[in-house]
Amino acid sequence: MSSNANEQVRVPRIAVLASGSGTNLQALLDATVCGTVSAEVAVVVSDRAQAGALQRAAAAGVATVLLPLADRRDPVVRETYDRRLAVVTGAFEPNLIVLAGWMLILGPRFLNTFPGRIVNVHPALLPDGEGAEVLTSYGCLPALRGARTVRDALRQRLPATGATVHYVTNAVDCGPVILREEVPILPDDDEVQLHERIKIVEHRLLPRAVAMALAAVSA
Ligand code: GRF
Repeated sequence: MSSNANEQVRVPRIAVLASGSGTNLQALLDATVCGTVSAEVAVVVSDRAQAGALQRAAAAGVATVLLPLADRRDPVVRETYDRRLAVVTGAFEPNLIVLAGWMLILGPRFLNTFPGRIVNVHPALLPDGEGAEVLTSYGCLPALRGARTVRDALRQRLPATGATVHYVTNAVDCGPVILREEVPILPDDDEVQLHERIKIVEHRLLPRAVAMALAAVSA
């Protein structure tokens, strides 16, 4: 078989970066098993030894890599980390990289290694680009960026929040949107309850968005 023919039959490969419990990873793993996503998860990388994502990956027979970050405030340590992360991830030859609850901001060293091939799931509604607002069925609402968006949505007494899957660019939480869905905020919601309802939506959106992104990168 020629190398071209080999390339044609190769199942697309996904690298997942995850810091947390890994329920989004699980949704993706399940989608690859049931065929909604025609790809394999080739590796799961985590910065946290206790991440549930690592256990889920191991249970599914997926390779795992633990890469802790020594000091997130030291720019030299951060750059070295990004370079190592790019090498480790690249060794698995991924077609797509999925940030599924990855809690570290990635620098240009990593992002420029995989241009247009990184997607992120975010627990809030985001617009395309750097705008401060996002148009929803409730009118324009603030675009919530960063790591505390569920709390922010409650504190700002918004009528709704949601989930967004988007491409990752150098501007944090500002890349082109692949899929987005609203989640209404209920009068008695606390942070845990609201986040759980957002995650239900994330688990539905992420596999669909990954399938769309895979189609785009292989087009
Ligand atoms: C998700 O809500 C994701 O959007 C956010 O972190 C959470 C990760 O959850 N970035 P899990 O680890 O996939 O359960």
